[in-house]
Amino acid sequence: VAFAREFAASASTLEELRERMAGFEGCNLKATAKNLVFADGDPQAGVMFVGEAPGRDEDLEGKPFVGRSGQLLDRILAAIELDRSKVYIANVIPWRPPGNRAPTPQETEICRPFIERQIELVGPKVLVHLGGASAKTLLNTPEGILRLRGNWRVYTGPSGIEIPAMPTLHPAYLLRTPAHKRLAWRDFLEVKMKLRALS
Ligand code: URA
Repeated sequence: VAFAREFAASASTLEELRERMAGFEGCNLKATAKNLVFADGDPQAGVMFVGEAPGRDEDLEGKPFVGRSGQLLDRILAAIELDRSKVYIANVIPWRPPGNRAPTPQETEICRPFIERQIELVGPKVLVHLGGASAKTLLNTPEGILRLRGNWRVYTGPSGIEIPAMPTLHPAYLLRTPAHKRLAWRDFLEVKMKLRALS
């Protein structure tokens, strides 16, 4: 983890960070993944979404949120008049865990310095955590997503950078629990209002 942290910190642009991640051999998930899933969208956008880990479609395309969850994310974004060209999207874990199993705590810790560095290099005005894994990892809290969602938090990066962060429900959860979509819409509306207030 210490090596990953130094390695990530030595990247001074997103392109350098992507290259370092592509060459990083410290995470076993890389061996079974087809592609590095780095990010999608516009790093200048002002809002950055962080999910958990790529699934099958993301692994094949090398882009985050392009499968069923991604299609739902696109529809929710459209409802607040955003699309993926106007946001930036990444995951805590950049390689697909085999069979879409949950990443282990060790895998998450190994990958954490890379997403933290990515957040720092993008410097969004607002961060949105898609689901409990992203929220718990990056906000350092054991609280469950159903308690966290809908309330602004502050993400504090290793360098001391502070960014308003909104935890919300993961699109894959919403596909299984459509009754909770209205909660996610509320959270996205909060994000939209915050972006407007900050622009
Ligand atoms: N779920 C995630 O958390 N991330 C993706 O990129 C796709 C599905």
